Amino acid sequence: MEERLQKLLSAAGVCSRRTAETYLIARRVTVNGQTAHLGQRADPDRDEILVDGRPLAPRAEAVYILLNKPRGYVSTLSDERGRRTVAELVADCGSRVYPVGRLDLDSEGLLLLTNDGLLAHRLLAPRSHVDKVYYARVEGTLEPADAAAFAAGMTLGDGLECLPAGLEILSPGECLVTLREGKFHQVKRMLAARGKPVLYLKRVRMGNLPLDPALEPGTYRYLTEDEVESCLLYTSDAADE
Ligand code: URA
Repeated sequence: MEERLQKLLSAAGVCSRRTAETYLIARRVTVNGQTAHLGQRADPDRDEILVDGRPLAPRAEAVYILLNKPRGYVSTLSDERGRRTVAELVADCGSRVYPVGRLDLDSEGLLLLTNDGLLAHRLLAPRSHVDKVYYARVEGTLEPADAAAFAAGMTLGDGLECLPAGLEILSPGECLVTLREGKFHQVKRMLAARGKPVLYLKRVRMGNLPLDPALEPGTYRYLTEDEVESCLLYTSDAADE
C-alpha cells in the first residue's frame, strides 16, 4: 500500500516524520533510483526506498515492548549469577529485544525493550536528556529543602555530580522524582544523601511514555504505532543535532 515517505521512514525507525521532511528536502531519499520529493508516496513492498543509499529495514522487524518490571528481576538478557532476568518475562514475544536502560533488581515499573537501536540510542543518549519519572517511598519526612536541593543540582559524597532534578512531594514519605540522566542507583543515592533512604522505587514515565496502569507487574504489551512515532518525535530534536 502506498504511504507518504515521511510516514514510511518513521515507521521503519529511521527518524521522526518531521525529520524525514528535512531528509527529503536535502535530497537524501530515493525511490527506485530517483530523488524523492516532499509529499511523495511509495509502496514499501514494491518500491526500492533508500536513505543515504541504504534500504529501509522491513517494518516487521521492529519490536517495541512496554514491560512493567517486577522486583526480583535483573534488567539484562542473561545473568552470570543465575538471577531471573527481564528476558524471561518477554520470551514469548519471539524477538531478541534489549532493555532500554536499567532498573535495579528491587525497582519496579516501566522498562522498554526493543530491537530498534535507533530509538534506544535516542532515549539513552546523554544529550537527549529524556525525562525519567520515578515514584519513591522513603524513610523519614520529605521537606521543601529536599526539593530545593534536587532543583539546584547535587554533588554526592562520592563526588557524583547530578544535574538539576525534580522532586515533587506527594506526602511526607512519598515523592515523584524527575531525572534528565540515568546514573547508577541515582534516585536512591540522591535521596539517601538527603537522609531519606528509599524503601520502594517504581519508574512511572520515560520521555512521553507513561507506565500503562493496566499492566500488572511482570506483564507487557506492544507499543502502538502512534506511541513509537511520538517517542521518535519526542527524542529526535536533541539526538539528531
Ligand atoms: N535510580 C535508582 O536508584 N534505581 C533505579 O532502578 C532507577 C533509578
